[in-house]
Amino acid sequence: MNPLPLPDDGRGAVGARLEQICADQDLHIRFLNTLSLMEHIGSRKIMLAQPRVPDGAMLKHLAEETRHAWFFKRAAEKLAGRTLDYGDDALLAGAAARFYMDRLDAGISSAMTPGEGPLPYLYMSLIIERRAIWAYRIYQSVLAARNCGISLTGVLAEEDLHHDKMLAGIGARDPLSDERMPAFCAMEQDNFRRFWGAVEQSACARC
Ligand SMILES: [Fe+2]
Ligand SMILES: [Fe+2]
Repeated sequence: MNPLPLPDDGRGAVGARLEQICADQDLHIRFLNTLSLMEHIGSRKIMLAQPRVPDGAMLKHLAEETRHAWFFKRAAEKLAGRTLDYGDDALLAGAAARFYMDRLDAGISSAMTPGEGPLPYLYMSLIIERRAIWAYRIYQSVLAARNCGISLTGVLAEEDLHHDKMLAGIGARDPLSDERMPAFCAMEQDNFRRFWGAVEQSACARC
């Protein structure tokens, strides 16, 4: 099965906004904490999708997404010099971040037929991994240029592996994947635009 192409629009605008966010310590702390929240929501969704007897691959995926949540939380708290919760004041567009994850999950779940086993989990994960790889590559290039001591290299390597594993799992199970994948990517694109619009609004309040 061929890899999904990464999103190809908005790269420049997202990169420019990330540069502004990284240059403002308070915004950057809240952005890092928001990424932690999104990774945490993703790991909870994997937990909820587990069958009674999960296999090792699913447990590994769960552990790695939980570690990503902790990675971003630790980076945010180190920059802030204090502990942070997931309250609105400690997040950047926190409500939109939650909405993005939940709406995507609901949209994919409602398009599936009951009894399709792990396919909802595989599709949700694949679509999120695809966006995470796209966004983290842009963010990593901004972080590297600023030489600020945060590197996403390890996280990105794991997201790449997750993406490939989800893609292989879908390819082995779903004869409808050629129709479903573009539809889910379009759904995600729409949801991401809304989420990023909320990030833009929150960040622009400080422009
Ligand atoms: Fe992750
Ligand atoms: Fe991942």
